[in-house]
Amino acid sequence: MMDLDMVALFEAELLLCKVGPDQTVAVLSEGQVRADYAQAFLVAAQRLGAPAFHLNLPSVPSVGPLHQVGRTPLAGNRAAIEALKMADIVIDLMGLLFSQEQNEITATGTRMLLVWEPFSVLRDLFPTTDLRRRVEHGETMLGSARELRVTSPHGTDIRYRIGQYPVMTEYGYTDQPGRWDHFPSGFLLTQGDDGAVDGRVVLMPGDIINAFRRYIQSPVTLTVEGGMVTTIEGDGMDAALLRQYMDSFGDPRAYAVSHIGWGLNERANWHHFAATRELDNEIGVHALAFYGNVLFSTGPNTELGGTNDTACHLDMPLRGCSLYLDGQLIVEDGRILPPDMRAPARPVAA
Ligand SMILES: [Fe+2]
Repeated sequence: MMDLDMVALFEAELLLCKVGPDQTVAVLSEGQVRADYAQAFLVAAQRLGAPAFHLNLPSVPSVGPLHQVGRTPLAGNRAAIEALKMADIVIDLMGLLFSQEQNEITATGTRMLLVWEPFSVLRDLFPTTDLRRRVEHGETMLGSARELRVTSPHGTDIRYRIGQYPVMTEYGYTDQPGRWDHFPSGFLLTQGDDGAVDGRVVLMPGDIINAFRRYIQSPVTLTVEGGMVTTIEGDGMDAALLRQYMDSFGDPRAYAVSHIGWGLNERANWHHFAATRELDNEIGVHALAFYGNVLFSTGPNTELGGTNDTACHLDMPLRGCSLYLDGQLIVEDGRILPPDMRAPARPVAA
């Protein structure tokens, strides 16, 4: 039975993406994964008068949806790739992020929207034009800066020379040719210049290792030299987990520092992982986008046009940090300072 709330939400999302009768919508899925989303998107597109089709690929168990970034069942399937290029927008229910196939498809002008989160997350963090405005203000600031520095009261102090790579925005919908986004979202990022990231990141209790769906419980110090994590120190279990996990890929490129940016979604909840029962079923947008987090990450950089396609990607949203662009304070102890980026205040409960 079709879920009418789902259809209505997806119709609103497609409207934000400027889908109409002159736009072809391709829905891409794998096996039975998110089959309800696939059907609801087709009906939503139909309601808007947009031609739509569903491209469903057999599951590849050794890859698994979103388990190994950049490795997808689409790889090598030339006919499927070509069909997706013919659409105006691809609704990606599979997780093509970091794959060569995604870059090839979006390079032709086809825009792409990743949809993966549980329905409650899609509903609760439904994108707004105001969030887009604030994220794009950040894009202008980040795009004109040449140095990004992150500090914390606990000893984090790391500098990124920037400018070699573009700025990437995520506000939850896409209406521009060739642009990728993730529904829902609310942050922005860039990547340090090759070899030009140096310093130290001290992970503290409450910071998040998104891949583990887990909060740090014991301090971990990452030393970064020339864009690579060179040591992972800490007496607790978290340092051991990080060391073992990264080592398990057998890939020295896993230790590269990847994207850096900050979160702007005031409706995303830092506490989400503590409260949800869907841990295995989500990317963790609440963690990535919560307001005022500094999103530090390691691993691949193909997303921003780099050549590192390691399958080991760690997003680490940090709390209470400060972030500077060319010496100008942008995030102060987890608070967003520029007025044009600040979220409207939440109503105070009576
Ligand atoms: Fe990431």
